[in-house]
Amino acid sequence: MIDIRGININIYNATDMNKSELDSLEDWFNSEFGYIEIEWAKPQWYLIMKYDNEIIGRIGIIKRRININSKNLEISGITGAIIKEQFRGKKLSKIMLQKATNFIKDKLKLKFALLLCRDEVVPIYKKCNWYIVKGPTLFEQTTGLKEYSKNTMVINLSNNIWPDGVINLKGLPW
Ligand SMILES: CC(C)(COP(=O)(O)OP(=O)(O)OC[C@H]1O[C@@H](n2cnc3c(N)ncnc32)[C@H](O)[C@@H]1OP(=O)(O)O)[C@@H](O)C(=O)NCCC(=O)NCCS
Repeated sequence: MIDIRGININIYNATDMNKSELDSLEDWFNSEFGYIEIEWAKPQWYLIMKYDNEIIGRIGIIKRRININSKNLEISGITGAIIKEQFRGKKLSKIMLQKATNFIKDKLKLKFALLLCRDEVVPIYKKCNWYIVKGPTLFEQTTGLKEYSKNTMVINLSNNIWPDGVINLKGLPW
């Protein structure tokens, strides 16, 4: 049992974090997702969830001017949502996702957020009001422009409707 009062969540600008903090978050990401052969963008913000001073969750947040059907759209992205194994199944990711989208809406003042994910985790995001868009979604790698083969999900943070069409992330994916 965890006591929800011991949970604490903060969002930090990556430029205010020191190298060892950033390295340990990146190592954590790589140990969860290192098997995926994609070069990922580095987050500009990190949401950190602590329980009694121990880091138990993280989400990377990005702001990017992407293209949809060649038209610019400034959006946010979330990446590497992870809850420490022994804390999973306690609805903590739901709390983290809500905080992240509140930050994107209220502080970054953006109308959409986008994430890329594999099939297994789609239900988790659907429960938090994210939905799948058709794309296709293109992103840059050193070897050239690639198409993401799994799911692209977005969340509406205003009354605006996501414009359907080809999504070009205009850089490394997240
Ligand atoms: C994915 C992850 C962050 C979920 O964290 P969590 O705290 O265990 O999830 P929650 O307890 O908040 O669950 C949120 C909802 O999703 C559901 N859910 C959780 N895991 C699920 C799964 N594997 N499949 C389907 N639904 C799932 C829960 O039942 C809950 O729904 P409910 O409120 O209707 O019961 C965690 O399992 C994790 O860190 N996994 C490894 C990293 C990863 O794959 N991250 C996703 C990257 S895209």
